[in-house]
Amino acid sequence: MTEHSLWGGRFSAPTAEMMRRYNDSFAVDRRLAGFDIAGSIAWASALLQANLIDANEHEQLIQGLNMVRAEFAEDRFVALSTDEDIHTAVERRLFELIGEPALKLHTGRSRNDQVATDFKLFCIGAARTLCERILQLQLALVDQADQHSATVMPGYTHLQRAQPITFGHWCLAYVEMLERDHQRLEDAIARTRSLPLGAGALAGNSLGVERELLTETLDEFDAVSLNSLDAVADRDFVAELLFASALIGVHLSRLAEDLIVYSSAEFGFIELADEYSTGSSIMPQKKNPDSMELLRGKSGRLIGNLVSLLTTLKGLPLTYNKDMQEDKEPLFDSVDTLDLGLQVAAAAVLTLRARPERMRAALDDTILATDLADAFVRLGTPFREAHAKVGRLVQRSEQLGVGLRELPLAEYQAVEPALDTNVYAIFDVDRSVARKTSLGGTAPERVAEQVARWRDLLGEA
Ligand code: ARG
Repeated sequence: MTEHSLWGGRFSAPTAEMMRRYNDSFAVDRRLAGFDIAGSIAWASALLQANLIDANEHEQLIQGLNMVRAEFAEDRFVALSTDEDIHTAVERRLFELIGEPALKLHTGRSRNDQVATDFKLFCIGAARTLCERILQLQLALVDQADQHSATVMPGYTHLQRAQPITFGHWCLAYVEMLERDHQRLEDAIARTRSLPLGAGALAGNSLGVERELLTETLDEFDAVSLNSLDAVADRDFVAELLFASALIGVHLSRLAEDLIVYSSAEFGFIELADEYSTGSSIMPQKKNPDSMELLRGKSGRLIGNLVSLLTTLKGLPLTYNKDMQEDKEPLFDSVDTLDLGLQVAAAAVLTLRARPERMRAALDDTILATDLADAFVRLGTPFREAHAKVGRLVQRSEQLGVGLRELPLAEYQAVEPALDTNVYAIFDVDRSVARKTSLGGTAPERVAEQVARWRDLLGEA
């Protein structure tokens, strides 16, 4: 056989050309090159320790692997059509560079434990990058919250005006969500850190390679996986990262939707910077919130990628099955989608302009109906009754076509005789938010405290 192949001895016919194209994964998994080589360097040391290679062979393997690593890093690796996957390609090139010792590298190892190791390393690195991107978005939101801790706007339920809140409080709601995303990624990283290498194809290795030593070289791992079958069959770490990514996508889509609505002429609460908007080819006046629409839209593929992987894994018998080669594309896509998406989100949030005057203009008297009911409660009315009475006042104001504050005192006294002109003091949105001082409430002083807490926590005091 002229070509360097990892298998073939028992075959008498070559792989069909279309089967080769169907089977090959190099175009996708070449992204794992650096991790594959790091795993091989660790493996070579384990082989030396187990006396399966001598010091000279070890030296050559390390030098050769470093050369292959440089070829990939400097984008001068020349792929051949026979490079079935990244593992094949690295070994083929290593053999070309150093000859005989390369033939010993795969001793006691399988592509099954190798690919699980490579992919775990990739996932750990990708999750860390996403954590960093999340942090930048959180900081952008905290920055806006800091400027707008006392900027009053309508808060919504059912997208109907509900109660006054501050724009800063709205910003910090997303910071909380993103913090849970960050924690989910950290949790996923912690569970990914058990090393599959040395599990062999599925049953373990019989050549005396000590797996514990491998974690010293591959220090991303803090333990070895303790069941060789599970080690090569497990893709939970991919599923977890895809779930964390899907949920980040869902959070970004909600942030985006709020900002799309808020940037419409009807609301006008915010304006996105030109840099994160686009225009129309026909309507000269248009400034569209495309950055936000893409964040909202791309949540679809993030969810799809999770479903794709779970569907692939469902019902797979132990241990490795080639179905599992389908694990990489969805993961790469989700990570790439979020890597850029989170950066765009951070920049768009940082540069958006809040319009406090428009927010204030959207605050009508009825948004203070709950405050009015609370005033009745302070006079001793049970809340359920207060709710009904204020409901009648809202109805009256609609019938008369006036705001609640224009309703004559007689109307108020008709439902609640104990009321006097002090009731009109309720119609003050600043006072309304200032009173929401419960922990986690929207009062500007609470929001300012939370801004300080986040700055501290996120490391930007
Ligand atoms: N390219 C393969 C994958 O990504 C590597 C593992 C191949 N293992 C095997 N037994 N054919 O899953």
